[in-house]
Parts: sequence; structure tokens; C-alpha cells
Amino acid sequence: MDDLLGLARRLMLRAHAPYSKFHVGAALRAADGSLHGGCNVENAAYPQGLCAEAGAIAAMVAAGQRRIVECVVVGPGPEVITPCGGCRQKLREFASDDLPIHLCGPDGLHRTVTLGQLLPLSFGPSHLETP
Ligand code: THU
Repeated sequence: MDDLLGLARRLMLRAHAPYSKFHVGAALRAADGSLHGGCNVENAAYPQGLCAEAGAIAAMVAAGQRRIVECVVVGPGPEVITPCGGCRQKLREFASDDLPIHLCGPDGLHRTVTLGQLLPLSFGPSHLETP
């Protein structure tokens, strides 16, 4: 988890967040052990902004990986931040309920939760499999 936290912290510094001033970094470990990260990228047309988790997922898929086994999210302050609803669903596409998500601040780990705790009774790819 220290390697993921280090990556997420570094990427948080690169966030483009001139509107919220709320810098976020995220890092994922894929099933092959590779690490992928992202930061939030805001836009003057506010709804076009991207969360850090979405950037990390896009980087992982572009690198050829499709399975997330561990996730770190780092926020800027003392308050524990959790992935937004949309990002919980984006994570669900590539992870199962038992995915550990480490919620961190600049000082380190605050709390670890699972994707299943954040997104119970989720809808996922298996629901679209033909019987
Ligand atoms: N944000 C993230 O990037 N990830 C989260 O888990 C929560 C929120 C971003 C979106 C926006 O750029 C800023 O934080 C304030 O909401």
C-alpha cells in the first residue's frame, strides 16, 4: 500500500483544480502488479471535470489491464474523502466487492473500506451476461 500511496501523493500535486482548489490523487494496483494513477482534472465548463479515480482507471485500461486489486485515494485535508458515486460505479466495472480502498490524507492512511461497503447491491458486468 505504501507504493500506491506514494504514487497517489505525487499525482495529487499535479491536479488541475483551479475551481475547487481541492486536489485529489488516486492510484490502483492491477492484477499483474502494475500501478496506475491519476489526479483530478477540472474544466471551466464544470461538469466536464474528471475525478482522480477516473484518470487512474483510464491509465490502467490504456496500459492493457482490466482488473483492479487495490486502490488508494488521497485528499488534501484532515477529512476522510471517499470516491464519488460515479467513481464507485467506474471502479465496479474492473473490481469486485472485496476491493480494498484505502482512504488517505497527506498524513497517510485514515481508513480502509471495501468497494462493497461503498456500493452495496451494485450493478456490474455480470448482470449483462446472457443466461
Ligand atoms: N474528486 C476526486 O477527484 N475524487 C474524489 O474521490 C472526490 C472528488 C474531485 C472532483 C473535483 O475536481 C474536486 O475533487 C472537488 O469535488
